[in-house]
Amino acid sequence: MSDVIPGIPGFSFRNGSLFCEDISAADLAERFQTPLYIYSRAALEHNIADWKRGIEGTPHRVFYAMKANGNLALLDLFARAGLGFDIVSAGELARALAVGAKGEDIVYSGVGKSISDIKAALEADVCCFNVESLSELDRINKVALDMGKKARISLRVNPDVDAKTHPYISTGLKNNKFGIAFDSAVEAYKKASRMPGLEVSGIDCHIGSQITELEPFVHAAHKVLDLVEALADAGIELDHVDFGGGLGVRYADEQPPSAQELINAMAQCTRERGFGHLPLFFEPGRSLVAQTGMLLMRVEYLKPTAAKNFCIVDAAMTDMIRPTLYQAQMGLVNCTERTDQNPLVYDIVGPVCESGDFLAKNRTLAVCEGDVLSMLGAGAYGMSMANNYNARSRAAEVLVDEDKAWVIRRRETIEDQMALETLLPKI
Ligand code: LLP
Repeated sequence: MSDVIPGIPGFSFRNGSLFCEDISAADLAERFQTPLYIYSRAALEHNIADWKRGIEGTPHRVFYAMKANGNLALLDLFARAGLGFDIVSAGELARALAVGAKGEDIVYSGVGKSISDIKAALEADVCCFNVESLSELDRINKVALDMGKKARISLRVNPDVDAKTHPYISTGLKNNKFGIAFDSAVEAYKKASRMPGLEVSGIDCHIGSQITELEPFVHAAHKVLDLVEALADAGIELDHVDFGGGLGVRYADEQPPSAQELINAMAQCTRERGFGHLPLFFEPGRSLVAQTGMLLMRVEYLKPTAAKNFCIVDAAMTDMIRPTLYQAQMGLVNCTERTDQNPLVYDIVGPVCESGDFLAKNRTLAVCEGDVLSMLGAGAYGMSMANNYNARSRAAEVLVDEDKAWVIRRRETIEDQMALETLLPKI
């Protein structure tokens, strides 16, 4: 038996067959059909423990960025483990509340908070709004005053630091839409501290996602702490520092730091700068869930052509868009190792009518029609980015706990897809 994801329990090969905990992937595919997202409870609990462990002497709090995977069963596990939530919409707020989170367990991020979103968050008494523009400060102030409330706020500052990741998931450069420009942050805080509907609480930054080195985090932390210092000089005291999310995972040969190493590095920066007393907030998404899930798909056809071999599967870019959108290289294995076939180089593609509909390119696989393949690291930004293009129904999700499998989201039906639409009257 060998673990498929180094260092993380939950997925293993036993006598040539992929298992999720004690159930074979082939059995899960047979029972629940494909495409199918499967998650391991043991893997989730392992990652939660990693993030919770923290650093002696440094108070820290983890707010799971549920955009990575918002399934209620997963959120429930996180809530039960005492994690808070980083949300970006009224929908995500409702999900957090549905699993019993209190306002104090929620931080609210995002550049485009609407008036109704802000109202809902104030009604829930969220711990903090991470504010991204001066106009948003004005808006939150006004809504809070209208409701007779005070909104606790952090400014999300844009430190202009290169996270060295894919441009679509880099957020801390000055030409990104995110955050308040570093040079105008102190002025913005002064403005916020004069607004009667606001209470200045902390400072926040999030420089990008799938970051695989500590250096950009440390660089950004020092810039944020420069501001904490300048604010203290201006008489503005903060009660926490939020270093956002962004910690990468190993999809191929990346060697990201562990959660522990990241927390340690951030704790060290804050201590060095004399702010060791401030609680540290983190908003991890991917690093909590990516390696806890896989996407199972069945091979429909093998199609050799003069130029390429195509392996056409029943999952598509609608189920997992990361390869199409970010050229992400996701691991892919045959759930039953084949010794009776010669490996060939394939493009693994879906049924969607787009040449961009691929799950992996140039992979060497020994495979037959009818086999079940599994995409590794699919727990983050997989199901949460799934869509209905080509009128495809979204996949089911199953959580495996030892030898038990729970359907945590049933497969969407074609009726579900049409339920929101109406025909015109016949006139
Ligand atoms: N906090 C904020 C304000 C964020 O915008 C994000 C992610 C996170 C936390 C969580 O970041 P994480 O720990 O997951 O890196 N769909 C892309 C990733 C987009 C990330 C967006 N923001 C992907 O599949 O790579």
